[in-house]
Amino acid sequence: MSEAGNYSLRPARQEDQSTIRSLIRTAGLNPFGLDWPHFTLAVDAAGEVVGCVQLKPHKDGSTELASLLVVDSWRGRGLGRVLIEAAVAAHDGTLYLMCRPQMETLYRKFGFSPVQEEEMPPYFRRISRLAKVVGGRRKPPEGPLIMRRDGV
Ligand SMILES: CC(C)(COP(=O)(O)OP(=O)(O)OC[C@H]1O[C@@H](n2cnc3c(N)ncnc32)[C@H](O)[C@@H]1OP(=O)(O)O)[C@@H](O)C(=O)NCCC(=O)NCCS
Repeated sequence: MSEAGNYSLRPARQEDQSTIRSLIRTAGLNPFGLDWPHFTLAVDAAGEVVGCVQLKPHKDGSTELASLLVVDSWRGRGLGRVLIEAAVAAHDGTLYLMCRPQMETLYRKFGFSPVQEEEMPPYFRRISRLAKVVGGRRKPPEGPLIMRRDGV
């Protein structure tokens, strides 16, 4: 039992792969790189998945906190915080994330701050540049915010 209700966290298993894909697709989050071994899930008392987060490794050696999601009926009860804290606790080194600019205040609460393009690992620099090309056509220009949290 927790502040948010009756849930627990557990590592994802192979049989969770399709649930992860469908949750992420429904929420409109990045559908690429959803490999179950990188995921931690929040499950309710009945075993239903009610939230997820992953630590996604990139080829350049960086690690991304990604795929953070809490299902509608569980939002606003502290589960998002628990998932972020679990991901942060599970990784000693520097963590990166990509989010909509409106989410900056949420991630600042956990020690993340925005990164300038010249400080980004190659993967995030590439995404950031690509987003500028695509988003730059919009007024105002839109693009993801890249944030970093330094590890211990
Ligand atoms: C973002 C999300 C995971 C938050 O989950 P949640 O369980 O509602 O979050 P919590 O109740 O634990 O709230 C944690 C903190 O974040 C803040 N917060 C929650 N949603 C926020 C938002 N959209 N913008 C800014 N702050 C937010 C809360 O006020 C809370 O702050 P507090 O602990 O100081 O009171 C959830 O809304 C969600 O799944 N959204 C859709 C998917 C998504 O956008 N994922 C993030 C991709 S970058």
